[in-house]
Amino acid sequence: MTLRSNEWYAGEDRNAYIHRAWMRRGVPDDAFRGRPQIAIANTASDLTPCNAHLSGVAQFVKNGILEAGGVPLDLPVVSLGETNVRPTAMLWRNMAAMSTEEMLRANPVDGVVLLGGCDKTIPSLLMAAASVDIPAVVVPGGPMLNGSFRGAPLGCGTGVWKLSEEVRAGTLSNEDFTRSESAMIRSAGHCNTMGTASTMALVVEALGAIVPGVAGIPASDARLNEAAQLTGRLSVELVAEGRTPSTFLTEGSFRNAIVALAAIGGSTNAVVHLLAIAGRLGIDLTPADFDRIGAQVPLLVDLQPAGRHLMEDLHRAGGLLAVLREVRDLLDPGALTITGRPLVEYLEDAEIFDPEVITPRETALQEDAGIALLRGNLAPDGAIIKPAAASPHLLSHRGRALVFDSIEDFRERIDDPDLDVDADSVLVLRGCGPKGYPGMPEVSNMPLPAKLLEQGVRDMVRICDGRMSGTAYGTVVLHVAPEAADGGPLGLVQTGDWIELDVAARRLDIDVPAEELAARTPSAAMTDAFAAPTRGWEKLYVEHVQQADTGADLDFLIGSSGSEVLRESH
Ligand code: FES
Repeated sequence: MTLRSNEWYAGEDRNAYIHRAWMRRGVPDDAFRGRPQIAIANTASDLTPCNAHLSGVAQFVKNGILEAGGVPLDLPVVSLGETNVRPTAMLWRNMAAMSTEEMLRANPVDGVVLLGGCDKTIPSLLMAAASVDIPAVVVPGGPMLNGSFRGAPLGCGTGVWKLSEEVRAGTLSNEDFTRSESAMIRSAGHCNTMGTASTMALVVEALGAIVPGVAGIPASDARLNEAAQLTGRLSVELVAEGRTPSTFLTEGSFRNAIVALAAIGGSTNAVVHLLAIAGRLGIDLTPADFDRIGAQVPLLVDLQPAGRHLMEDLHRAGGLLAVLREVRDLLDPGALTITGRPLVEYLEDAEIFDPEVITPRETALQEDAGIALLRGNLAPDGAIIKPAAASPHLLSHRGRALVFDSIEDFRERIDDPDLDVDADSVLVLRGCGPKGYPGMPEVSNMPLPAKLLEQGVRDMVRICDGRMSGTAYGTVVLHVAPEAADGGPLGLVQTGDWIELDVAARRLDIDVPAEELAARTPSAAMTDAFAAPTRGWEKLYVEHVQQADTGADLDFLIGSSGSEVLRESH
């Protein structure tokens, strides 16, 4: 086994002396003589509350690395707390990926264990590891324990959207709303609904980059520590066998991830993250693959936001492997996992222990549970919708557009009693794409107008070039590409235009003659709302970010940098 770290530590020259000497600090000499150096890329941070417990998990990873003869090395990396980071954590996903990629390349490490949890953290870590292509394995931080409020399950995020609408509708007091905060978040871990964090952990396990059976173990469950320790041992084996991401992540792996995404009713955000990860590996994945593969997959998991239960229930009911066993025929039988064994081998003894949470295929909650790709003159490069989270009666709909030029414009006007809106209107929000916001925030699930909520309306067709929280629900068309700020036709829609949504036909159109549309120019209010950044990351991001249909990565980060850095530092 030739170790990458030998390039730093092997030999008796001055540079090898420098690299070893500063790292000794009580470490025995054999640590630099042929033992794999394993970084623990850790996104623990007090400002990322969903990941704050990861340093405890890292300790178990370290134990495992040491047991297997490796040398564990803490590598704190950029951490993104979904609920805190402004203007949106997605603006920083690529920065987190780029900085982790460069630190892995720059340092004497042979492999890496990736510790993530909150929404952007697992995607950014895996994008980085895929580009460097050193042996890498993910340990997901796990979901919080179930919340409950007034005798009913209260899911993270989903509860916020539901209860805040109740406040606006006048059916819940502000006092009770505040009281629900600590009922919702009652342990370490990430959101316990089928939001983006849960989705990405489960989907990355199906992809093969997490040891099968580990994703979904609650953060405070002792079995997560055991899994972390065993994964630490495995990371040393990965180095010995040269099992880098490019050696086992294939098109078949992404097929399995997409099947899992549909069967669990996962977040739409997984589309943009999986596209970006595939881009780093040189795998030609497109939004159409999600529609094509997902179209055969039944929805088997009854979790919030669309369903009833929470992640702790899913784990108790058998977890991802029990779900995948039901759709085994749709999986790629050859796709390997990080252990070197195919995913399908792990399904043999998987079992459903609670059919209320994981339903057998014969009683699927919905056929065709995949994410639908829409095209039309309003989204030439596509837009997506999650039919499982939408209202069936709105999946085919014709309504008049009510246009908002920015999220601020929306917030200012949506509760105006004189707003010309009814239940059939189509709410259009633009200026929320990767370039326009910038960063593609989770604002597409626009709150409904208060006056319609009071009338009992609970869903409307909404269209946006941004994203939607994985914990949200509704008939929301999102990731419209190209975005309005990039010249997309969404920027040409005017209030009063007729819009047609036909999910069965996969169409999203504006009923305006092509000549008339071509003659229009983007509204001044929209272009005024977009101020091109003049410095720093935002400037770099806006100048290089790609559209949602290719994963919203930066153009110069797509593909692999490799792990070789030949030039010495002294
Ligand atoms: Fe961190 Fe939901 S806010 S996972």
